[in-house]
Amino acid sequence: MTTVQHMLFVLLLQFACLESFDAKQSIRSMKHTNGSHPCPQPTVGNCSCEWTGPYVKVTCVGLDTVPEKVPESALYITFFNGTIKEIPQNFFLSFKNLITLNLKENKISNKFKLPKSLFNLFLDNNCLNASTIFGMFDGLTRLRALHLSWNPLGEKLVPGTFSSVKNVIELTLANCLLEDVGENMFLGLTNLRTLKIFGNKIRTLKRGAFRGISCPKGETSLTLKLVDNLISHIEDGAFEGVHGLFRLSLDGNQLSSFPNLTGFPKFSDLTLSQNNIVDASSLTHSGIKQLENLLLNNNQISVIPEDLFKHIIIRTLDLSSNRIKEIPPRFLENPKTPQIINNLYLYDNEIEFVHSESFAGLPNLKTLPPPITNIKALMRIL
Ligand SMILES: *[C@@H]1O[C@H](CO)[C@@H](O)[C@H](O)[C@H]1NC(C)=O
Ligand SMILES: *[C@@H]1O[C@H](CO)[C@@H](O)[C@H](O)[C@H]1NC(C)=O
Ligand SMILES: *[C@@H]1O[C@H](CO)[C@@H](O)[C@H](O)[C@H]1NC(C)=O
Ligand SMILES: *[C@@H]1O[C@H](CO)[C@@H](O)[C@H](O)[C@H]1NC(C)=O
Ligand SMILES: *[C@@H]1O[C@H](CO)[C@@H](O)[C@H](O)[C@H]1NC(C)=O
Repeated sequence: MTTVQHMLFVLLLQFACLESFDAKQSIRSMKHTNGSHPCPQPTVGNCSCEWTGPYVKVTCVGLDTVPEKVPESALYITFFNGTIKEIPQNFFLSFKNLITLNLKENKISNKFKLPKSLFNLFLDNNCLNASTIFGMFDGLTRLRALHLSWNPLGEKLVPGTFSSVKNVIELTLANCLLEDVGENMFLGLTNLRTLKIFGNKIRTLKRGAFRGISCPKGETSLTLKLVDNLISHIEDGAFEGVHGLFRLSLDGNQLSSFPNLTGFPKFSDLTLSQNNIVDASSLTHSGIKQLENLLLNNNQISVIPEDLFKHIIIRTLDLSSNRIKEIPPRFLENPKTPQIINNLYLYDNEIEFVHSESFAGLPNLKTLPPPITNIKALMRIL
């Protein structure tokens, strides 16, 4: 995201919560009963209920307030795309079997209590801030998915916000106006597979920022998406204390070098597209030894250091849309372990010179006819 886009989006997010929308058109409620048990009939918006034996899935759209007479045997409750501003504090506590609560796209700004039975909680697109959500998730030890994107959470989260949601697998905090990943913000997330913090305003990742995060025991499955922030500096040890990091996406930031990933020798995906990397040599000091996919497209790289991959095993390398002028000899050769490169992208560069041995030492890159003398033919292949 550009700075202008960022500013626009910040304004949008703030205005969406200040503005008081016209009451949504009242639509006559659908009436689905299982005999004696009615479905809510709100005056603004509509609800439908689907029964399975004694259990019910309640889906309401366009509500301006929580409806009356929601059956207590609800397993799934959705109040979607309305203008609900406030949830009465104890409203959801009577739903002892509630598995999924979806309150996306409302204007909720207050703290309310949640039943311990919850597995999935979707609160995207509301007006919640960091101090409001602090404490809201306490005791939700069954929770697996927690979505909080598009809330104006503010500069930073309160440490301990997620300390009791130990089983959350997926946490999303995209577009929440976060500026800082303060220490201990994510403490307690010990079964995490995906953390999405994209589209925020984070500038620096400080040492220990993600301390305490780990993926489920025995797995290496953690994906950390920090795409489209303003990150220009990653301190040494930013990822220290994180267990099981496997995919790291830093695309769309302002990095000029590789982060120090000492302690994470193996990655599936490391993506740094659309940054300001000029000098790729910092990769050799990053601590990485093995990568499936390394995406460096849309940077400012002009020189590929000859020894870049001497100590790194790699399968897919995307260096497209850079400023590379020359492809050095044997630049992908790894003397210890033969490289098995599956995909190599070099298009949209300023290549003027390809060495006859540029692609030597790659047993499976058979599509390239060595020695390559015709740059045009090469460009077609790459
Ligand atoms: C709400 O009402 C509209 C129009 O009658 C209908 O198409 C829609 O399915 C209803 N939605 C729910 C959740 O009941
Ligand atoms: C209707 O709901 C009640 C109580 O929740 C339940 O005992 C009953 O089996 C349901 N009836 C049908 C036909 O699903
Ligand atoms: C949400 O409601 C508004 C107004 O009722 C409608 O225009 C819009 O299409 C709805 N959005 C979704 C995603 O249903
Ligand atoms: C957070 O939201 C609450 C409830 O709307 C409000 O009282 C409080 O002032 C907000 N705090 C900040 C820092 O905006
Ligand atoms: C990377 O960070 C570690 C500490 O986390 C440090 O010991 C090491 O010297 C750093 N490497 C470089 C190349 O700065």
